[in-house]
Amino acid sequence: MANTSNPNLWSGRFSEPVDERVKRYTASIPFDWRLAPFDIQASLAHAAMLARAGIISAQDLADIRRGLTEIQAEIDNGSFAWNLDDEDVHFNIERALTRKIGEAGKRLHTGRSRNDQVATDVRLWLRDAIDRIQALLRDARLALVDQAERHAATVMPGFTHLQAAQPVTFGHHLMAWQEMLRRDAERLADCRRRVNRLPLGAAALAGTSFPIDREFVARELGFEGLCENSLDAVSDRDFAIEFLACGALVMMHLSRMAEELVLWMTPRFAFIELPDRFCTGSSIMPQKKNPDVPELMRGKSGRMYGHLMALLTLMKAQPLAYNKDNQEDKEPLFDAVDTLIDTLAIFTELVRGLRVNAEAMRRAAVEGYATATDLADYLVKRGVPFRTAHEACAQAVRAAEARGCDLADLSLEELRAFAPQIEADVYQVLTLEGSIAARRHPGGTAPAAVRAAIARVRQELA
Ligand code: ARG
Repeated sequence: MANTSNPNLWSGRFSEPVDERVKRYTASIPFDWRLAPFDIQASLAHAAMLARAGIISAQDLADIRRGLTEIQAEIDNGSFAWNLDDEDVHFNIERALTRKIGEAGKRLHTGRSRNDQVATDVRLWLRDAIDRIQALLRDARLALVDQAERHAATVMPGFTHLQAAQPVTFGHHLMAWQEMLRRDAERLADCRRRVNRLPLGAAALAGTSFPIDREFVARELGFEGLCENSLDAVSDRDFAIEFLACGALVMMHLSRMAEELVLWMTPRFAFIELPDRFCTGSSIMPQKKNPDVPELMRGKSGRMYGHLMALLTLMKAQPLAYNKDNQEDKEPLFDAVDTLIDTLAIFTELVRGLRVNAEAMRRAAVEGYATATDLADYLVKRGVPFRTAHEACAQAVRAAEARGCDLADLSLEELRAFAPQIEADVYQVLTLEGSIAARRHPGGTAPAAVRAAIARVRQELA
């Protein structure tokens, strides 16, 4: 980054140049250059409004448009020289504009301040980021739905306390993940409505004496409404905090899923295999295939929570209106979006590449006596009080355990010793398929219910 000794745009009232370390400390250009396309977009809308209101001439507007378009092209092709002396993205672009077009460049900032400018840029940037994240959430949900469809009838043990509890289908499990991401998408859509409001017009804090047209600028920039109070418009970053809270929930969900992937691919479970391109080896233990990617997905939730805490803390003691503290909103926000985008994209690939070991899943369900509850329910349906049935089934499980067999391997006589109400039809409920098929209500694990859920989500995402 160039470091020339140009006087600052605000240095008129200062008697000595700013300290070098302070210059580096206060500059945001090393990171806020990422706002540039949105800064230019907002400046174009502001300039168009100034011209319509007769505050600048049509010629000024034409010059500003030409200059900003050239600057955008230079940024795109990498030839634009960002300058630390120009502090932030707003000054860098404004000074480059004035170098190109002269006087008209100096008129662009009429009726505006960097305070409402930066608030506008961040909102435009974040709105775009939300839209990209929403597209990735959709991809992830579709990948889950596709795998769920393939495994709508694949039996696995469902767990409570990480102990085999009742049989479920793998498709049902994947659709549970899908539900988490669906709520995340809803939350982000709601957050977007509050992000999508125009701060410009608030100027430094008190508004402006120029006859501005805020509605026009809002329409030009695709905002749904105005920030209704100038002090609030330039100061609060609650919209960014809200986004980070949504992001923290997304990462929390992905971290839970990653944790299950890690468990499932240990040889102890051996439920799944991940494609080699998502795994790494050990430098010392030749037999290892490590789940580094899901582990990182789990680990990166931590930085996301950190960013949320950072912005909450940044905001909590700020008096109205703008304070420079707010410059610190950007790095956490940028990193949060980068993390979400990469994690979601990789997660989708992972889900699509997943290979399922249906045999190992089924074996684990059998070994876990996952149909014991079905036996209890069977007895209840024949008039046995639930607590009595529960006790009889517990004894049956102990007997099967002692023999090292499944409940379904016990003979009818053996079973009737625990509860005389048991008949030959008991074997229908003792099988994994019988247990699963019985749960066919909406939200249940029966293949038919899972397929219905899949159809609903496909329709929603179409
Ligand atoms: N770079 C600043 C930020 O990110 C722009 C606004 C600066 N305004 C000011 N009065 N110092 O917040």
